[in-house]
Amino acid sequence: MGEIQERKNFVVAIDGPAGAGKGTVARQVARKLTFLYVDTGAMYRAVTLKALSLGFDLSDENRLIAVARNLRLDFRDSSDGYQVMLDGKDVTREIRSEQVSRYTCYAASSLSVRRILWELQRCFRERHHLVMEGRDIGSIVFPDAQVKIYLDASLEERARRRFLQLQEQHLPADFTQVRQEIAARDKADFERPIAPLVKVPDAVYLDTTKMSIPEVVNWIFRLCLERGLPLPQID
Ligand code: C5P
Repeated sequence: MGEIQERKNFVVAIDGPAGAGKGTVARQVARKLTFLYVDTGAMYRAVTLKALSLGFDLSDENRLIAVARNLRLDFRDSSDGYQVMLDGKDVTREIRSEQVSRYTCYAASSLSVRRILWELQRCFRERHHLVMEGRDIGSIVFPDAQVKIYLDASLEERARRRFLQLQEQHLPADFTQVRQEIAARDKADFERPIAPLVKVPDAVYLDTTKMSIPEVVNWIFRLCLERGLPLPQID
């Protein structure tokens, strides 16, 4: 009895730089495992979107903290796709806007905001097995995750993927600009004093530059099996 109570839900932590394919891969792995998928980047983006809509200066940390504290955020994953709901409104597309991407560094570099979001992220494990992706999942949110993966790809390949994604969505895209933006986000993520992006020693490094999405998903699935993936729950 005691042993069952102490056993923690299974966590697949996927970290890595922008454009490495974490979102697509994590979502598919979660589907395959019937785990909950959590996109932590969406949380930093939602705080930023809300702050921008309130119109205050994002360097005002106290107001940013208040936004994070009162965040009404909900994730929905259905056959229609993955939806991020903020205050009951679907903001899935809005949080990916260029403006939100540019301003998210304010929320990401505030320790107080991060503490609030870390707590929310950890709560998900109380009720679910998880596939959680971000920058600090294996290092800070769940240092005891059963599986930790650092997903990487060359800058050129990440820029190419992002560029194709924008084209598919009929959004304006310039390859050189996309590559510059990804390089700038890499710098911000690696050099941030608080919770920078790092490959922790117990994370498995996977370079996906020459891999297809199904190959990466299967590779992670096999790793989960090796690490004692729990059998699907019937209840
Ligand atoms: O993953 P995504 O690109 O949507 O993340 C948006 C921003 O939030 C990134 O620029 C990143 O710096 C930040 N972030 C973070 N920690 C996480 C997830 C994202 O600082 N766990």
